[in-house]
Amino acid sequence: MIVILTALVQWVHVAAAMLWVGGGVLLDVVLIGPLGRAPIERRRLIGDFLAPIATRFFAVTGGLTILFGLVRGTVLGPVTTLDALDSGYGVVWLASLLLTIAIAILGGRFLGPAFRRMQSDAALWKSGPDGGPTGELEAALRKIRRFARAQSVGFALVLAGMVMMGLGVV
Ligand code: HEM
Repeated sequence: MIVILTALVQWVHVAAAMLWVGGGVLLDVVLIGPLGRAPIERRRLIGDFLAPIATRFFAVTGGLTILFGLVRGTVLGPVTTLDALDSGYGVVWLASLLLTIAIAILGGRFLGPAFRRMQSDAALWKSGPDGGPTGELEAALRKIRRFARAQSVGFALVLAGMVMMGLGVV
C-alpha cells in the first residue's frame, strides 16, 4: 500500500516538475525567441494574452512540485527527523527545497512582475526610428531573459540533486 502511495506522490511530483520546467523552456526558447522577430504590436498582444495564463500555470505546477517533493522526502521518505538532514540525502533534499523556493520566488516576484511591467508600459512599445523595437524594450527583454537563464541554471542543479537521490548515491 505504502509503495503505491509513494509511486502516486512521486508521479504527481515528477509530472508537475516536468510541466513547470518544460513550460518555462517552451516560453523562453520557442515563444520569446522567435517572437522577437515578429512585429512589435503582435508581440505585445501575444504577451498580454499569455501573461495571466503563464502566471496561473507556473503557480500551480511550481506549488505542486514543492508540496509533493516535501511529502515524498518526509512522510514517504527518509527525512523524518532533523538529524536526517545531516545525511547526504538530507543535505541534497534540503538544498533542492531551498533552491526550488528561490527559483519560484525569482519567477513570481521578479520575472513575472518585470514581464507585466514591460507589457503595460506603452512608451516601451513605440516603434524605434527604424520601425523596430526601441532600445528600452530590448533592455526590458534582456532583463527578463537574464531571470529566465538564472532559473534554468537552478532547475538543472535541482534536477542533478533529484537524480542523485533517485540513484541512491547520496
Ligand atoms: C523544479 C524542481 C524539481 C524537479 C525538476 C524535480 C524532479 C524530480 C525527478 C525527475 C525525480 C525522480 C528522480 C529519480 O527517481 O531518478 C524527483 C524525485 C524526488 N524529488 Fe524532486 N524535483 C524538483 C524539486 C523537488 C523539491 C523542491 C523537493 C523537496 C521538497 C523534491 C523532492 C524529491 C524527492 C524526495 C524525490 C524522490 C527521490 C528518491 O527516489 O528518494 N524535488 N524529482
